[in-house]
Amino acid sequence: MRTHYATELNVESIGKSVSVAGWTQSYRDHGGVIFIDLRDKSGIIQIVCDPADSPAAHEAASAVRDEFVVIASGKVRARGEGLANPRLKTGAIEIVAESLAIENKSHTPPFAIGDEKVSEETRLKYRFIDLRSPKSQEIFALRSRVANAMRSSLVEQGFMEVETPILTRPTPEGARDYLVPSRVHPGEFFALPQSPQLFKQLLMVAGFDRYFQIARCFRDEDLRADRQPEFTQCDVEMSFCDQESVIVVAEKLLKDAFKAAGIEIATPFMRLDYESAMEKYGSDKPDLRYDLAMFDAIDVFEKTGLKVFAEIAKEPRKNRIKALKVENGERLTRKEIDALTEFVAKFGAKGLAWIKVKDGAMQGPIVKFLSETEQKAIIDRAAAKEGDLIFFGAGAKKVVLDYMGRLRCEIARILSLASDREFKFLWVVDFPMFEETHDGKIAALHHPFTMPASVGGDPLEMKSIAYDVVLNGFEIGGGSIRIHKEEVQKEIFTLLKIGEEEQQSKFGFLLDALKYGAPPHGGFALGLDRLIMLISGATSIRDVIAFPKTQRAQCLMTSAPAEAEEAQLNELSLRIRKTAK
Ligand code: AMO
Ligand code: AMP
Repeated sequence: MRTHYATELNVESIGKSVSVAGWTQSYRDHGGVIFIDLRDKSGIIQIVCDPADSPAAHEAASAVRDEFVVIASGKVRARGEGLANPRLKTGAIEIVAESLAIENKSHTPPFAIGDEKVSEETRLKYRFIDLRSPKSQEIFALRSRVANAMRSSLVEQGFMEVETPILTRPTPEGARDYLVPSRVHPGEFFALPQSPQLFKQLLMVAGFDRYFQIARCFRDEDLRADRQPEFTQCDVEMSFCDQESVIVVAEKLLKDAFKAAGIEIATPFMRLDYESAMEKYGSDKPDLRYDLAMFDAIDVFEKTGLKVFAEIAKEPRKNRIKALKVENGERLTRKEIDALTEFVAKFGAKGLAWIKVKDGAMQGPIVKFLSETEQKAIIDRAAAKEGDLIFFGAGAKKVVLDYMGRLRCEIARILSLASDREFKFLWVVDFPMFEETHDGKIAALHHPFTMPASVGGDPLEMKSIAYDVVLNGFEIGGGSIRIHKEEVQKEIFTLLKIGEEEQQSKFGFLLDALKYGAPPHGGFALGLDRLIMLISGATSIRDVIAFPKTQRAQCLMTSAPAEAEEAQLNELSLRIRKTAK
């Protein structure tokens, strides 16, 4: 139907007879001559329908409206003197229509293609129209290119792609499961995989040596801008490896993926241990495009006149007083400082003290409580200069690290310290094996199949051989060396209070596999959606998923989820118990 895509034509095509096919981006009637901007996946080209050239084409063109599907044939010619459109790739040429066929009409679209002011709700309801925008077309072409490059990179590195089941047993990754009722076994359920974790480990036991999969994962968790209930991982596992050899594979993979997007990245990436990341940046996924590191100040305030601080400083193991210097802090107005105080309060801060270095002295609400020595100690430790601003957060360790970490990012946002075209990679290593949950139990920080660095002692002090790869403040991937010995796996289950019976019923197949010659193995998974979001500069993961769900885990286009019919429920032996929401 077509000889060329729009932007394949250029001044060298002048004089050629061509056919193009696509959608009507716009049409204009200029005194009897109709101009159509025809859009295809490559871009836009102008079609001129002049009754003097072809009365039939002009007649057809007069019926064309926005988004009508048309095929136009004719000769390429140069646009007249001064009529070139520098904003179009094809702006120097146009096609003089000899024929124009309307292949399909279109209702007036609910919004103009590419109009970003339209509510996301409307765009998601008409996602098939929304995706016509040049920006979306570019994102999905990029996504396909990057995924392809990842496949090639891994195949080249000796990995083999294997598919694993979607209807399966629960794979714990810390979220709720999506369950699928079984018709054949009334009252029993499959779970959709939160990741292929256990299957990829079993493939290592099977001797596949190096596996990968661009795999769909399902997690029923609270959604955010970088989280979807259904998302894609580039999932990798390898045998006879240690942390270093896994990191080499992951870095090569990311290098090749970015290359496909036209971005050169340098390897090896920086590394930071979990403890330092938390103490310096208040996050296990710090954004290192800007410095703004925190420093300890608890010892400075041991005997201070500022009562709240003195009280907190009495318990340096449990508590923290963290300081954060903003160079040339005068860029922050008093109003912005007050807004920051409200911001951290949302995350449990009881206050946000600050001082300014002005005219060689300290200024701010807490200065009157501080001795000369304290003031000097702070200035020295911060290496503070005229005009600098220093914030202080004081309180329980976990809370202070969290809100000061968020404060750091918020200040960077206000002062525009980071560009989305800069890519700062980081490995966070030496994670704790377990974390304490809000109800005082312990849970695996990664997953329960992660190899501990050593066994014994206080579980909360145990480290694991796990690593996360972070890009610009987002966790884009994570992995670990796995447990390959049955007795170690059982010990970890026991520490997690998973009893013998539950171990057998939930993970019997894994424990069995570990009895039959499991090799040492490990791997990682990259979040493909997050990666594409960052490469493309999109602000939400939804922009890089063709048919995403809303924050409330719904598909507005298909209206899923939806109620099932009574007959289906009967077949599945299910009865719906309606409870007040
Ligand atoms: P993890 O749970 O860290 O590890 O997931 C790996 C990466 O997947 C991405 N990701 C998500 N992306 C979008 N929406 C979500 N809801 C979501 N959840 C996770 C993140 C994350 O870094 N089996 C292990 C990997 C391993 O140990 O090999 C796993 O799934 O970018
Ligand atoms: P107050 O004595 O409560 O008025 O506090 C004096 C200053 O210390 C104010 O600027 C408060 O914002 C700040 N402040 C109070 N508690 C904390 C805290 N836990 N962390 C940081 N700053 C605090």
